[in-house]
Amino acid sequence: MRPLMAGLAGSKIREVANAGLGRPDVLAFWFGESDQVTGEALRQVAAESLMRGETFYSHNLGLPELREALRRYTAALHGDPGEGRIAVTSAGVSGLMLASQMLLDAGDEVVVVTPVWPNLPAQPAIMGARVRRVPLAPDVHGAWRLDLGQLLAAITPDTRMLLVNSPNNPSGWTLGRGEQQAILDHCRRTGTWIVADEVYERLWFADPATEGATPLTARSAPSFLDIAGPDDRLVVVHSFSKSFLMTGWRLGWMVLPRGHLDAMGTLIEYNTSCAPVFVQRGAIEALAQAEVTVPRLVDHLRRCRDTLCGALAGLPGVRLATPAGGMYAFLALEGASDSLALAKRLVTDHGLGLAPGVAFGHEAEGWLRWCFASQDPDRLLKGVERLERALPL
Ligand SMILES: Cc1ncc(COP(=O)(O)O)c(C=O)c1O
Repeated sequence: MRPLMAGLAGSKIREVANAGLGRPDVLAFWFGESDQVTGEALRQVAAESLMRGETFYSHNLGLPELREALRRYTAALHGDPGEGRIAVTSAGVSGLMLASQMLLDAGDEVVVVTPVWPNLPAQPAIMGARVRRVPLAPDVHGAWRLDLGQLLAAITPDTRMLLVNSPNNPSGWTLGRGEQQAILDHCRRTGTWIVADEVYERLWFADPATEGATPLTARSAPSFLDIAGPDDRLVVVHSFSKSFLMTGWRLGWMVLPRGHLDAMGTLIEYNTSCAPVFVQRGAIEALAQAEVTVPRLVDHLRRCRDTLCGALAGLPGVRLATPAGGMYAFLALEGASDSLALAKRLVTDHGLGLAPGVAFGHEAEGWLRWCFASQDPDRLLKGVERLERALPL
């Protein structure tokens, strides 16, 4: 085994979930997925594809029909990326790994904005890159903020890649347009690739009336695609998992600069070769329905967010800000220092399953992440009652 394998940490969220194994009474909000099943029409289309016998290998880069549907979907949100820039991947996690494989040699420097979903810094590390973390910091109200000057100072001509996830899992922090422009301008000067994880872009709750949304930001969080040109060193990674309730389908896509698609197809050949055809058929249907289903999901998630954050704000010693994007409430409890031990205790003693902040980096030690993508908002309130019973810590 390569020596770095020994340093690959297991998931601390799984560690908490294991503490609740075999306990049907636990209210679990630890994983990043909705408890709602994928829409029936999508399942039907995929089932029909299987029954037609679409069980064979297909194109490395995805079905041409799906790639064309993704180009049109992207064009409607961010402006037309043009031909030859979209690759279908086996979910977002594979798209992110492919980006690291495409860009990194051992020893390269990667800057990552943290706290963040742990796979992001782990993947470049697997490639042998040196990962530097640039932490967000919470304000007194629990809203996480970027020190833009600190981030730009960390990105030098020696920085091969910047990895940034916005809207952010776990904190809900979202890059503003001005910050995005400053980062893009800076990375153009240093020659640094931006790998933007925008899988939560549609789970965006900004009120267009009050938050200065433009037609480009009304339906989606600000994206690097809104401001970058086709030759910028930018890879945007997307997923069908979150906005289309398709976590188990394992499908995503990436938008690449002009001229990189053929090489990416070759790289996909050596990873997964292609995504299953019946899964891609379901995805074409998901895109056809997107402007009906996604706004409906966002309305529901907004209700979930407001229900949960409203109830949590009423508890003593809780610090949290209402997130503008994503599907997580991220909270700090007065007196909490060891979030892993606390999360395990909440499971075993109170039947409440939350993700420990430390799973997303030491910057988030003492915090807890609560996924509010619940079909029934009352389930969230039951969870809050359980948390209340655990207080004060
Ligand atoms: C920030 C972020 N990026 C990417 C993913 C990958 O999702 P998937 O591999 O299901 O597409 C996740 C999943 O939780 C995530 O939170």
